[in-house]
Amino acid sequence: MSTEAGMSQKRLAVVTGASSGIGAASAKALVEAGWEVVGLARRREKLEALADELGQAFSYQVCDITDEDSTQIAVEAIVSKGPVKALVNCAGGAIGKSPVAASKIEDWRAMYELNVLGTLRITQKLLPSLQESEGSVLVISSTAGIEPYEGGGGYCASKSAERVMARILRLELIGEPVRVIDIAPGMVHTDEFALKRFDGDQSKAQAVYAGVPNPLTAEDIADCVQWALGQPDTVDIDQIVVRPRAEGSYTKVYRK
Ligand SMILES: NC(=O)c1ccc[n+]([C@@H]2O[C@H](COP(=O)([O-])OP(=O)(O)OC[C@H]3O[C@@H](n4cnc5c(N)ncnc54)[C@H](OP(=O)(O)O)[C@@H]3O)[C@@H](O)[C@H]2O)c1
Repeated sequence: MSTEAGMSQKRLAVVTGASSGIGAASAKALVEAGWEVVGLARRREKLEALADELGQAFSYQVCDITDEDSTQIAVEAIVSKGPVKALVNCAGGAIGKSPVAASKIEDWRAMYELNVLGTLRITQKLLPSLQESEGSVLVISSTAGIEPYEGGGGYCASKSAERVMARILRLELIGEPVRVIDIAPGMVHTDEFALKRFDGDQSKAQAVYAGVPNPLTAEDIADCVQWALGQPDTVDIDQIVVRPRAEGSYTKVYRK
């Protein structure tokens, strides 16, 4: 299939983590750009609300990407609609900020299960469809996967693994008609990310963004997603590292 022919046909994107934050914003941006989107997440009511907002171009599958059966059922329903042109791996998160010496094994395991193995699971299952459509695998990794920071422990390790997985997939697929794109955001102020990280502690979550002029928004990252996927099939945006202007690194942040 030529690039032009591909662009003139229906373009179906799967967005994991579509129930909130960057995933929800990416689903919206892609629908606005003319894509059909299937959103995946565990919370049906959030996905239903997004479906009400976005109309027919958005549908959803309730899916836990850490669960084999749940993911298999969702993928079978999706591929029955036709080839998938893009997979946006956005489901992910951080748990805690404990030092390595004191962190809980189960917290690390949960981050690996979601950020690494969940991303691997759904990517493996959708790859044949993406190959058929000259499609794209996109991961929302993190600058945490580039520059480790104290207390980052399992999150930095898992995001580093996610980035490496994307990079290796890119190398392994050379010669095949699939793009692999890694978007690594720095500080993005979303409603839930920090709150979940600190187990619902509002003051700890607010302190992450305190005094920072204009942290990135979910919409900023969604713009990157939509732009990268909108490039011609033969142009692979290997990596985007995007931060707020006020953030030089995780430990060098300007606060008013
Ligand atoms: N916010 C930041 O500063 C920042 C910076 C760099 C990178 N990132 C990365 O960007 C991604 C999105 O972050 P965000 O800020 O938008 O956070 P968020 O609002 O907490 O979004 C996380 C999404 O993942 C979904 N999810 C969690 N566990 C899941 C599972 N087992 N199966 C399927 N979906 C699951 C959640 O939906 P359900 O709970 O409904 O399942 C939710 O939609 C994450 O990968 C994060 O690591 C965030």
